[in-house]
Amino acid sequence: MAARPPFTDSDTADEAVRATCDDATTCKRFASSKGYWRDPYIQYFVRTKPPLSKPLIETHSTDSLLLGDDTTTTTTHVATVVFDQNKDGFTVYLLLFPPCVTTIIRTVADGHSLDSDRYCIIGADLRDVVTLDEKLKRFQLNPEIPTLLLSECVLVYMGPGQASSLLHWAAETFHTAMFINYEQKERFLQSGWEHAEALDMMSVYGLLPRDDLARIESLEFLDEKELLQQLLQHYCICWANKDKLTLGLSQLSF
Ligand SMILES: C[S@@+](CC[C@H](N)C(=O)[O-])C[C@H]1O[C@@H](n2cnc3c(N)ncnc32)[C@H](O)[C@@H]1O
Repeated sequence: MAARPPFTDSDTADEAVRATCDDATTCKRFASSKGYWRDPYIQYFVRTKPPLSKPLIETHSTDSLLLGDDTTTTTTHVATVVFDQNKDGFTVYLLLFPPCVTTIIRTVADGHSLDSDRYCIIGADLRDVVTLDEKLKRFQLNPEIPTLLLSECVLVYMGPGQASSLLHWAAETFHTAMFINYEQKERFLQSGWEHAEALDMMSVYGLLPRDDLARIESLEFLDEKELLQQLLQHYCICWANKDKLTLGLSQLSF
């Protein structure tokens, strides 16, 4: 029997990166249990017991609700999502590190497959855009139709050259597209996207409906407002687009 190749430093580093989605899941479960939002499914994705202490990024996670429907916010193990809209509706392509695919399929299906015309989970290393492109073609992604790419805290785990190759690939592949991302604006403009804007999360927080703010701020006592402000000012949400079909994507804003 062939000997298994020894683990390298990069295997260990990749494992640590993959573990970040478990941290995110644990924080989301905690936030959901406190009533920040309703997520009946998150419990099924948590491998470890909920933390005893409050996660530091809980309130900042709440802001990421802006990206989704507040009753279905389970984004566990989500690395990057591609929504591809055609006349019959959306197809969702979920792009994940291969081991994360195994975990998610074990959780939501019978452990072997997830079969749907509208939902496709693909194991892919986003640093390898050639293989990524081949896989998406195999799964019939049509780059000619309007597409939304969504990734939260993913590019930051890749080298700058690798992140920029991914953005270049996306800009060349999709002609009418929007990319919503939780990182930098300049990177998009340097990678072939026509238009990009960014807003720091403190500004986003200030734009949340007052009723929502009053509700979430009453859930738990927060005596370190400066800490929260520093944290939110440190992160930004960025959206970039290409608009060959002239849908007016550059007009979309908060
Ligand atoms: C901090 S987590 C993001 C959590 C996610 N936004 C969520 O709410 O669950 C970082 C994610 O990036 C993914 N990731 C990082 N580098 C990747 C790569 N090269 N290919 C595929 N996924 C990658 C990790 O597997 C992990 O799921």
